[in-house]
Amino acid sequence: MYNIKQLALKIDAKIKVQPFVKWAGGKRQLLDELVRYAPKWFNRYFEPFVGGGALFFRLQPKLSTISDINPELMNVYQIIKDQVDDLIIELKKLKNTEQDFYKIRNADRNLDYNKWNNVQKAARFIYLNKTCYNGLYRVNSKGYFNVPYGNYQNPNIIDEHNLRASNEALRNIVIKCQSFLDVEKDARKGDFIYFDPPYIPLNRTSFTKYFKDDFDLKMQVDLRDLCDRLSEKGVYFMVSNSHTPLIFRLYAKYAKLIKEVDANRAINCKSEGRGKVKEVIITNY
Ligand SMILES: C[S@@+](CC[C@H](N)C(=O)[O-])C[C@H]1O[C@@H](n2cnc3c(N)ncnc32)[C@H](O)[C@@H]1O
Repeated sequence: MYNIKQLALKIDAKIKVQPFVKWAGGKRQLLDELVRYAPKWFNRYFEPFVGGGALFFRLQPKLSTISDINPELMNVYQIIKDQVDDLIIELKKLKNTEQDFYKIRNADRNLDYNKWNNVQKAARFIYLNKTCYNGLYRVNSKGYFNVPYGNYQNPNIIDEHNLRASNEALRNIVIKCQSFLDVEKDARKGDFIYFDPPYIPLNRTSFTKYFKDDFDLKMQVDLRDLCDRLSEKGVYFMVSNSHTPLIFRLYAKYAKLIKEVDANRAINCKSEGRGKVKEVIITNY
């Protein structure tokens, strides 16, 4: 069984790992609040919307399953876990020039891309994340990455120390590419799940409207229903989302357990701009 304070203290004293990608909705600046509101004790850890994995890397519980629906991202986790040396060699070949950027970015428009191995694909993903505009991840309707060149002086494409620390942190961790709904079959009583889904947009409160990024109202409801079922099973959950009337309605059952926190967003997949934004943390304990 894990004790949250011991986990957090152990990591303070040991290897510090930063998320290896800049990720929209990344939770770096809310980490203290998330640690504060995590359950005191839990068995295994699950993070089904892992993204850049800020909370996972902060806690590094060895009995963890991390997952996300993005196959390219989950390939990077797998390669860092299994082939970090090969990845570093591959990354060293990539140069931060506009010409190279577009050549690498547009590689997925070419049939040859199917012949790239997973290490090359992981290196491309990290390279694009560091050199594209604002570290955004966006693909067009055909699934081709389409964020423009960021023109950064020193984008730190290979942070070798952090990649090796991430490799250590991922040892024995279960990595999956799947929908958040699949966590249900694995989680058992006493386990802890942190859900950090794409947020409900701040400017839409209607129950009938659909949201961007395919993570629509139905999925927000599915997530809430999943939380209800997990609660019945004795699984601890913590959910992050935006501070909207819709969220308070959806999670009315947990109203007394909703915490309001201030987030200072650097990049914003949730597209409400920059600066201080109120968010909520919902728990069932
Ligand atoms: C707000 S971000 C998570 C940020 C993460 N906590 C961090 O620290 O970087 C939401 C993530 O949910 C993933 N996602 C979107 N729809 C999903 C689904 N149906 N199932 C699982 N993951 C999904 C996205 O790929 C994205 O990485």
